[in-house]
Amino acid sequence: MSPTEQAPEAQELPVIRIFDTTLRDGEQSPGASLNTAEKLEIARQLEMLNVDIIEAGFPISSPDDFEAVRQIAGIIRHCTVAGLARCTEKDIVRAAEAVRHAVKPRIHAFCATSAIHRQYKLKRAMEEIVKISVEGVKLAKSFVEDVEFSPEDASRTELPFLTEVVTAVIEAGATTVNIPDTVGYSTPDHFTRIIEHLFAHVPNIEKAIISVHCHNDLGLAVANSLAAVKAGARQIECTINGLGERAGNASLEEVVMAIKTRADVFKCRTNVNTRRIYPTSRLVSTLTGLKVQRNKAIVGENAFAHEAGIHQHGMLAHRSTYEIMNPEDVGIPASKLVLGKHSGRHALHDRLLQLGHDLDEDRLNAVFEQFKILADRKKEVHDEDIEAIVSELLDEAENQRTWEMVAMQTTGGTGVLPTATVKLRNTQTGETVTDAATGDGPIDAAFTCILRLTGVDAVLREYDLRALTGGRDAQGEVHLELAVNGRSYRGRGRSTDVIEASALAFLSAVNRAVAGAAKPLPEATNGDV
Ligand code: KIV
Ligand code: ZN
Repeated sequence: MSPTEQAPEAQELPVIRIFDTTLRDGEQSPGASLNTAEKLEIARQLEMLNVDIIEAGFPISSPDDFEAVRQIAGIIRHCTVAGLARCTEKDIVRAAEAVRHAVKPRIHAFCATSAIHRQYKLKRAMEEIVKISVEGVKLAKSFVEDVEFSPEDASRTELPFLTEVVTAVIEAGATTVNIPDTVGYSTPDHFTRIIEHLFAHVPNIEKAIISVHCHNDLGLAVANSLAAVKAGARQIECTINGLGERAGNASLEEVVMAIKTRADVFKCRTNVNTRRIYPTSRLVSTLTGLKVQRNKAIVGENAFAHEAGIHQHGMLAHRSTYEIMNPEDVGIPASKLVLGKHSGRHALHDRLLQLGHDLDEDRLNAVFEQFKILADRKKEVHDEDIEAIVSELLDEAENQRTWEMVAMQTTGGTGVLPTATVKLRNTQTGETVTDAATGDGPIDAAFTCILRLTGVDAVLREYDLRALTGGRDAQGEVHLELAVNGRSYRGRGRSTDVIEASALAFLSAVNRAVAGAAKPLPEATNGDV
């Protein structure tokens, strides 16, 4: 039996629930903000991946977050859809409203329990924390049957107090109690002790599922999650590509493949359809703009690449010499198909599905149209080009484009003054405007024109240019971030001309800023209970 084949008795193993928080904790990754259309696309993909629970967002944090959770709750049929809430009435009511139409709704309430958080953040005594938590769970329970509670910063909470809180919230009706390592401080031994302690000292523990939620500040999130499973936890909270606050959360693909590949050690299984792992990882990376590092376990470009001659020789003799998993088991296509101008809609549709995009008819038509335009300009259209087309489309679906690029001309080079002339059209009034500027380079000059023409006052915070594929006709893709009136707006643009890609990315961020100026500021979600 190859190491990746599951033993026949695998179906009898206990199931570890996979709680995906890519759309909530993952979306809190610096630079990873997603619009509603993108979140819906990811949620659909997570359903195909067959995760058990999708944490769709933090409804109180902003009207956009609320709307995304509400819409996801409306389309997801097989997974539980959870909304996060602090233990306050307004948070819980808002979360309840957002998940109301889910087939399987869950409210995930949390309250910090560690001495550090009690003293500095909440300024509350232990008894008050217990009361707030219990009341929060009871209120959540009045809306939904499925209530999860998290004692935030549990791994730095005194064990007797953690035991008291966990007992109290189960008594109040929590059906899942999640133990977060909020700051990624724990180690596998330490986490094992916490979970074992809870199993030994919480009298009503069999009435709830014990879950873990580990952050990766010391690079131990996956190891700590797996240690908790060995100690009796039955739910793991994790994210695609390990996205999340700071250094991220436990990576879903690593947790799932560790449990599958080492079923002999963990003696459990998950419901995840592992063949959807790679498409989901690609989708999340494309839509967040956060690239997966080459040597990332399971989904990195090098994860199944064999460079050393001795390894290649071994692989030719038998794959199991150097591979503990089959790439096909995680959905990595056996060969990379390149499309071109003669490829039809059917081939494009197939390719899109392999890349994690299950588009409706209208969107497929729109992508096909763009694909044909690109295929006329470039001989070969690669996966990265197709992904860029789709992400642009989702971006446009969501964001009103007040300004549209009509024409641009730039000059630059050695010994000349860089200049740009930009012509924009206001899509609401139909008016076209033109301006010219000089700059440190043609890109800087084009940015100056765009700011003057749109009247937006922005500071460029981040700028990243990369080639989407190899080859001299590769498209350049620019991701950038602007600060406008204290808020951040991201933009992306692509073209075989990197100056044009830069100007388009800049304009897309400016358009987001124009649309964002009309929206209320997000609710502050720190410092309160
Ligand atoms: O890291 C954390 O503690 C959290 C909780 C809200 C579960 O994200
Ligand atoms: Zn977290």
